[in-house]
Amino acid sequence: MGDMEEMMKISLPKGTKDILPEEMKKWNYVERAFSTALRNAGYGEIRIPVFEYTELFNRGVGDTTDIVQKEMYTFTDKGNRSLTLRPEGTAGVVRSYIDKGMSSMPQPVKLFYNITAYRYENVQKGRYREFNQLGAEVFGVEKPNADIEIISVLGIFFTSIGIGNLSLELNSIGCKTCRPTYNEKLKEYYKDKIDGMCDDCKRRYETNPLRLIDCKKENCKAASKDVPYITDNLCEECSVHFAGVKNGLNKMDIKYTVNKGIVRGLDYYTKTVFEFVSENVGTQGTICGGGRYDGLVEALGGKDVPGIGFSMGTERLLMEMDSRGIGFGEERRPEIYFVTIGDNAYAYARKLSCALRRAGIYTEMDLLGRSVKAQMKDANRKNALYTVVIGEDEISQNKAVITIMDTGDKREVSLDSIYKRIIEKKV
Ligand code: HAM
Repeated sequence: MGDMEEMMKISLPKGTKDILPEEMKKWNYVERAFSTALRNAGYGEIRIPVFEYTELFNRGVGDTTDIVQKEMYTFTDKGNRSLTLRPEGTAGVVRSYIDKGMSSMPQPVKLFYNITAYRYENVQKGRYREFNQLGAEVFGVEKPNADIEIISVLGIFFTSIGIGNLSLELNSIGCKTCRPTYNEKLKEYYKDKIDGMCDDCKRRYETNPLRLIDCKKENCKAASKDVPYITDNLCEECSVHFAGVKNGLNKMDIKYTVNKGIVRGLDYYTKTVFEFVSENVGTQGTICGGGRYDGLVEALGGKDVPGIGFSMGTERLLMEMDSRGIGFGEERRPEIYFVTIGDNAYAYARKLSCALRRAGIYTEMDLLGRSVKAQMKDANRKNALYTVVIGEDEISQNKAVITIMDTGDKREVSLDSIYKRIIEKKV
């Protein structure tokens, strides 16, 4: 059997993981806090499909990006359609906004999501092939109000899970008015440097010169030393918008630094971009990334509606919390553990457990036919508040002893009063 098991063992695909119940408690804690922070600001939850037509990401995320060029899980289905596992959430949410006619609903439309995403990446600390994103998108707001709101909601969320002091880095990367002129300026700057830069940069030089600034390779970083930044080359409209965002954040006492080097890795961004960073989450350090995408809805076939949003890797949030030693809320204790002796008592306790669980009480009992001693040990290990031992005598005499586990105090009560006592918390 041992050999057979060895032979049959199938391992986890690289870059994926199982999340077991102990770990899942942390996930639930963070996901609940996120949902609370977003709902308190008037955002509604949206679910989108795991796969979409490949075309959506080619056009949405942008076919010059690393994501589209190298990282997508694309396959042909049995009907010969090209489908792709979502590498992020924004494109799908925008597709749904258009598809479901959300532009005719009262604006702004404010949505949040909790999704898995898929990128064929080099796996390392904080970087996986299947990962999770908590994110939000706001449609229909041109003014800096939306930029300020989402950043402040993020601040509330981070504070609620104990990591309120992450660094916020902010930039503006222009729009369709100022970007083309700036791109020309960039190409001029890199003209005699590009030969010494990496192959990716050579490609970007032609397709998306803004990304040259972002390359992490040493040679390329050196070449970008005196690069002109878009932040200093914004058109009037973008400058006014950026000033409005900074002013709004200042008035709310939200700390940020302008980082002119932030250009983001997705093509749809215009004007405001931002990242929340920490040194605890591996090479990249970015916990949350986001920005404005005023041309995306239109580019994907919808009306000319502005948008802005963010998303963050849940794994990276949890890493940040773990590395700071932050707790994940109170451990849930079973309110009652039934220790049983014999089949009759077991059947009785099982019915009672069911009734208590139905009433919302966390109730435990044995499933393995264990001895009384082993059941008691289990009740201790699970940190139950009360235990009740039920055997033949207890049933025939309608009485039972409740032990208050924290103090060891014991109380004799009638068996049929237990339900009422537990529900009314009068033990
Ligand atoms: P992104 O910067 O590609 O932006 O990803 C956002 C966050 O997802 C990252 O900051 C990181 O925490 C997490 N993340 C990305 N890739 C991985 C990975 N391979 N493993 C673990 N975590 C990862 C977006 O996805 C945009 N859709 C954000 C946005 C929404 N912009 C506007 N609206």
